[in-house]
Amino acid sequence: MAIADIRREYKVLTLDETQLDPDPLRQFSFWLEDAIGTQGRSRWRRIGIALYKLGQALLGRSGADVNAMTLATVGADGHPSSRTVLLKGIDERGFIFFTNYTSRKGTELESNPHAALTFYWPEFERQVCVAGKVSKVSREESEAYFKSRPRDSQLGAWASAQSHEVASRAELEARWEAVARQYPGEVPLPPFWGGFALRVERIEFWQGRPGRLHDRLCYWRLPAGGWRVGRLSP
Ligand SMILES: Cc1cc2nc3c(=O)[nH]c(=O)nc-3n(C[C@H](O)[C@H](O)[C@H](O)COP(=O)(O)O)c2cc1C
Repeated sequence: MAIADIRREYKVLTLDETQLDPDPLRQFSFWLEDAIGTQGRSRWRRIGIALYKLGQALLGRSGADVNAMTLATVGADGHPSSRTVLLKGIDERGFIFFTNYTSRKGTELESNPHAALTFYWPEFERQVCVAGKVSKVSREESEAYFKSRPRDSQLGAWASAQSHEVASRAELEARWEAVARQYPGEVPLPPFWGGFALRVERIEFWQGRPGRLHDRLCYWRLPAGGWRVGRLSP
């Protein structure tokens, strides 16, 4: 099949102003819960989502990595870059994720804290686009999260000079073995590793609709507090 012929109609759900929560982070949480499929707002909503997900599973569509998001950053040279990271929390500070501070994204966020996130949940024909400014979370919080990770991932964080060129796979694995010997017990938090929180300035909820007349509802943070909501043309 030609790439240009790959397309589909979006038709399963709708989004209008009356459905939106006044708080965009709560609205986001509802959509994430829908994608996770475990904690709907009511019993009937949960049953509806469970049936819907069952149907999708029978069609062979998986809802894995529902907390995966594309993170876009801009380098000091003005060039953008993007990659997938996992959302690890959401609260009044915004969207929280963890990474290597000396990676490409880490150094770009250091020099320019403006960033954007995109979530896409194909099962629900939904996209969320977020823009804002990041700041580092506290060392205590990074430590608490690091401790909750499997030992192999902790060692991986030490062994990988993320985004820097490495001579071979063998060298990477040798580094991992060396770190495993160095820390036979608890693995400490690397000084170059931790979390960022992205404070939302703008967040858009996109629901696919037939004929490409999609619903796009956007919240903009107001300087005096609160949010302005508007509908964007699809
Ligand atoms: C599903 C998925 C989840 C990922 N989650 C993370 C993450 O939470 N943190 C992270 O640093 N990298 C994560 N990665 C790897 C990044 O996409 C990327 O390769 C890495 O962070 C280096 O990016 P950079 O060189 O642009 O800094 C993930 C990749 C995938 C495919």
